[in-house]
Amino acid sequence: MMNKTEALIKAACKAQLNAYTPYSSHPVGAALCTADGAIYAGCNVENAAYPLGMCAEAAAISAMVAGGGRTVEHIIIVGPGSHTCTPCGGCRQKIREFTSTKGTTITVCDSKGEVLMSTTLDTLLPYSFGPENLSESSDG
Ligand code: THU
Repeated sequence: MMNKTEALIKAACKAQLNAYTPYSSHPVGAALCTADGAIYAGCNVENAAYPLGMCAEAAAISAMVAGGGRTVEHIIIVGPGSHTCTPCGGCRQKIREFTSTKGTTITVCDSKGEVLMSTTLDTLLPYSFGPENLSESSDG
């Protein structure tokens, strides 16, 4: 029987195979789970208009939100080859939006699904800004 982390790694590796990366040749897969055990995956999707490209983590978060999920318990990122593909700054903030009160684990794997590092969102994005940091009044 596969445990939760193994299932996430498998989903991220599968998504990586579908990455659309004609410009960078840097395929990334991501898979996350919510507290209820649901798994959502994504891959990076590039575009001829380069800035429109989407990261794998962002795609997985979009799939989660569309599926009704709101809390990322654990996210796995699979980079190309043996590359340690830690999430970019923008994706750290995107994960931050949906982090759980008990924190979010971030695990980076190589393309074979071997774990390269595991850490927390709070370590990668300390003193972060999130929804609860917004002022309650709209007059600034
Ligand atoms: N990329 C991701 O999908 N996730 C990351 O964590 C870092 C970078 C993508 C964006 C772009 O398509 C390619 O990798 C090269 O930057």
